[in-house]
Amino acid sequence: MKSPTRRSFFRRTGLYVLGLPFVHLRKQLLGPGKDDPSLVYFTNGIKVTELRSHSAIIWTRLCAQMHPVPVRHERVDKGGTDFPVAFNEDMPVHEMDGAVPGISGEVRLIVHGAGKKTTTEWFPARESHDFTVHIPIRRLDAASHYTVIVEGRQSSSDKINRLTGEFRTPPIDTAVAPVLLATSTCQYFWNYDDAERGYQSYDSMRRMKPDLFVQTGDYIYYDRPGPMATTVEKARHKWHAMNSWPSLRTFFQSTPIYMLKDDHDLLSDDAWKETKPLGELTYTDGLKLWRENVPLEDKPYRTFRWGQDLQIWLVESREFRHQHQDIPAAERSIWGDEQKAWFEKTVKESDATFKILISPMPVVGPDREKKADNHSNSRFQTEGEWVRNFISDQKNMYIVNGDRHWQYVSKDINRDLWEFGSGPVSDAHAGGWKSDDVRPEHRFLRVKGGFLTVEVDRKEDTPFIEFTHYDVSGNPLHREQFSETIR
Ligand SMILES: [Fe+2]
Repeated sequence: MKSPTRRSFFRRTGLYVLGLPFVHLRKQLLGPGKDDPSLVYFTNGIKVTELRSHSAIIWTRLCAQMHPVPVRHERVDKGGTDFPVAFNEDMPVHEMDGAVPGISGEVRLIVHGAGKKTTTEWFPARESHDFTVHIPIRRLDAASHYTVIVEGRQSSSDKINRLTGEFRTPPIDTAVAPVLLATSTCQYFWNYDDAERGYQSYDSMRRMKPDLFVQTGDYIYYDRPGPMATTVEKARHKWHAMNSWPSLRTFFQSTPIYMLKDDHDLLSDDAWKETKPLGELTYTDGLKLWRENVPLEDKPYRTFRWGQDLQIWLVESREFRHQHQDIPAAERSIWGDEQKAWFEKTVKESDATFKILISPMPVVGPDREKKADNHSNSRFQTEGEWVRNFISDQKNMYIVNGDRHWQYVSKDINRDLWEFGSGPVSDAHAGGWKSDDVRPEHRFLRVKGGFLTVEVDRKEDTPFIEFTHYDVSGNPLHREQFSETIR
């Protein structure tokens, strides 16, 4: 069960709504005002990223207006997704639904926690990086609650605006502590299910107060209309529009996020380094924009602990592909040699009770027969078998994946190997599988949206791990629990 200590005063009282810039609050109380041209705004929120026991990187973007351009277009259901009606792809980007222009300036952090207060230097927000800012925080204490006040201004002579967030650092590797992880995948702007807040799933996850959130890719969809991301400007707009939904903003103010990329938030369907540009948008552009929005200090694949009982591996599945059809099937690779060696070594070295591979794509499946993009597809049979064998050989190791637009639990027919697919973030995004097409691998199948949680804790000193699928409202649908002693 969750420790009461991490339910902070902020959360208990709901005071973190005051994390809205105070100037905004005053304006809201006094009635609708115009944006103050001397201020910067945090309309795209903040993200606590790459949180470890002793460090984190704070992400934000300086914005020129308090609110995004309102959503004005009607939608039509195209089956498996909604599309905007009569959307003029050539209109100026700053007029598009969800647009949030950026502004140059500078940002600093004031970090309170563990009996200390630290103020960082000012970091520049530059147009060349779309006004995004990444600020590393070091020397944090493990298992401690922190508040972070993000301050922004146009220049040293201008007024400061603020946004407040909070997080709790993971415990040290040898500490026994409960952990609640939430994960979701696949969110297209026009598939929102709350006209004010964006996606119900994010508000439902926030109510559960997870310790961490993993977004397993397709955070945005460059290759869907409203607009199609055929230029760098339109591609950046997709991030602005997504990040300004209130349900995401409030969730990320109090929940650390770890992000994986997939094809649609890199370039287009099944993208890899040889995929042709989407209009003017190239694979190289896609990589640069992803890094603007996802602060990483090193490789895109990484592993981290959450105390004695959990270690997580986040893998990269787009950048290192070796997949030409004319090379022998046995040599085709999604991960690449370096990542495979890292994965094998770090898993073997781990003494965590439970281990989870979080993959932006299925490893077990089942998937549609015509697909040729992931480890469950025949094109990558050799590497897929290697991954499945390796994981099933480990004690207490599981797979959590994104990408598929339906929720499922599957167990490999040939091995003791379980996979949990979170499903897309909203119902309008669900499709691609028939509800009655239940295969022998399936332990749960639902062609709808929602999310997945993973809880690790102990009952009378026996560690257990529990995977729960939820609908978008936060109603539990299916649970699988494993205890350390029974495997
Ligand atoms: Fe997707």
